[in-house]
Amino acid sequence: MSQTDILSVKPVPVSTFDINMNKSQTIQETKCKSWHNTYAHLYYGNSLDYYSQWESPDVIISDGAYGILGFEGDTSDHCGLPQWYEAHVAAWAMYATAKTTLWFWNSEIGWATVHPVLEKYGWQYQNCNIWNKGIAHIAGNINTQTIRRFPVVTEVCVQYTLEPKINGLTLKKWLRYEWKRTGLPLRKANEACGVRDAATRKYFDQGNLWYFPPAELFEKMQKYANLHGKPEGRPYFSLDGITPCNAVQWEQMRAKFFCPHGVTNVWDRPPVSGKERIKTLNGQVAHLNQKPLDLMRRIIDASSTPGDVLWEPFGGLFSGCYAGAESGRKCFGAEVNADYFQLAVNRFETGNPNPSNFLFQI
Ligand SMILES: C[S@@+](CC[C@H](N)C(=O)[O-])C[C@H]1O[C@@H](n2cnc3c(N)ncnc32)[C@H](O)[C@@H]1O
Repeated sequence: MSQTDILSVKPVPVSTFDINMNKSQTIQETKCKSWHNTYAHLYYGNSLDYYSQWESPDVIISDGAYGILGFEGDTSDHCGLPQWYEAHVAAWAMYATAKTTLWFWNSEIGWATVHPVLEKYGWQYQNCNIWNKGIAHIAGNINTQTIRRFPVVTEVCVQYTLEPKINGLTLKKWLRYEWKRTGLPLRKANEACGVRDAATRKYFDQGNLWYFPPAELFEKMQKYANLHGKPEGRPYFSLDGITPCNAVQWEQMRAKFFCPHGVTNVWDRPPVSGKERIKTLNGQVAHLNQKPLDLMRRIIDASSTPGDVLWEPFGGLFSGCYAGAESGRKCFGAEVNADYFQLAVNRFETGNPNPSNFLFQI
């Protein structure tokens, strides 16, 4: 699919109605169309119009439509979500690399309906993380006899990566294919790596016992193959057919992942409140979907290192960019609503969400 094709598939809500449909638009002129500091680059407008200008992402944090009329343009139910997301998902796949991790925030049913679209564009499911906001989230507000179900206090943050292919082969297939080309028995890979049987067992397995070889072991296999493999087939394990792939290049073939000790896929954490919750001058919550900075830090730290590039296509108050910029990631984000965009700019300029610091009123 070309870039033009992707951009012509504009996300349109297909549900019956949108929030604020009957109200006059309150959107004001923005003071600026974009805002930048050393690490953060925030843009006012539709993210689809910006992807091509941003550096290729190592991390994408998607926190868009939930199908709950949560913001202007959100759909009224989950049925419209696949269409709402498709152009974005296609563009992410186009600009991402094998190093990219996508964190897809949504409700359970929202994610379930968009998952086939993510798979269609090559995003591979890794894990579903559950944000448990706890009982305080619904305290006293729910009549279960009316809603006829258990109260929902969760959201999901689902981790995806892109599987790279070399000459049309997945890494799993390519490793075995290249070794077989050498004419060497598979067990010789153990000798190459200096292990008893782990190399053949883990790196040549074609099922779910396959492991990505660590870079230094990959390079040992590659060197052994090029030294001892049939001369007429060299180079082995090459990406360009000229030079063999080295450890640094091999490391680029997968997304980073770091898990702090004790962290699981259930994240118990109340909704944002207190000082962190951004309010308007009249004391109202500025954005219903403001994400906690600590959860943003968690996913950013798990999937990137300082200097890496982060995208936040549905910025809101840009909690992802805020957390990413704090820790030296190069962040690009967009927000289509002028009020939210201005609030976010204020958040970055003052470094303090206290309403008395707001430079303007909404
Ligand atoms: C769920 S909220 C994001 C909240 C954000 N994570 C935070 O912590 O503040 C989604 C936001 O995406 C914005 N949005 C929706 N479609 C967009 C698009 N195509 N480009 C840019 N922003 C968009 C909405 O206006 C809304 O503010």
